[in-house]
Amino acid sequence: MKGLFITFEGPEGAGKTSVIQKLAKELTERKYPILLTREPGGISIAEQIRSVILDCDNTEMDARTEALLYAAARRQHLVERVIPALKENKIVLCDRFIDSSLAYQGYARGIGVEDVLGINEFATEKMMPSLTVYFDIEPEAGLERIAANNKREINRLDQEKLDFHYKVKEGYDLVKDKYRDRFAVVDASKDFESVCEQVRDILISYFAEHGF
Ligand code: TMP
Repeated sequence: MKGLFITFEGPEGAGKTSVIQKLAKELTERKYPILLTREPGGISIAEQIRSVILDCDNTEMDARTEALLYAAARRQHLVERVIPALKENKIVLCDRFIDSSLAYQGYARGIGVEDVLGINEFATEKMMPSLTVYFDIEPEAGLERIAANNKREINRLDQEKLDFHYKVKEGYDLVKDKYRDRFAVVDASKDFESVCEQVRDILISYFAEHGF
């Protein structure tokens, strides 16, 4: 398969979505063949699963049910959107992927990173991104940004206590270490323009290294 599969990861309020929306627009204008998409969602079936997972009323949801729903949404999104775009030699920029499940469900929810990896390997047939850009920020700083941004939707996972968000960060630290070869880390505590600049530099040099 051709193309490039690049994912973006980080805790709540890291600014990942705003940064990649801006960069995707800019890079498209510069004629890079970009497809921007997101998880969980991006296509109808996966958006429907997303609304079940993130519904603030679904307080009784079991941790394994949550992990399986994310993996199901991931499967559908991969076959319906990501793989066809890669076959057309596109650069797929995906807002969250498997590492979110490893950090949130595997580590923070306590199911176990290896077990969650197992169900995800079934879902993805072991397909992995070749580059993951990680938005590094302390949990308090991320949550403060969410509180200050009243345009952002508040979801079921945002409502978890600070302790859960610390665990998400610890989970990401483990995942970054496990897959250090594909991880590039940006300092997401900086202002918006500076984070855009860090991510832009990483992407442009990665594109050039891979013939784009
Ligand atoms: P978002 O805030 O980036 O839209 O992501 C939605 C929420 O879903 C966010 O709290 C992270 C969470 N999430 C998981 O817990 N596991 C996953 O596999 C994915 C993709 C997201």
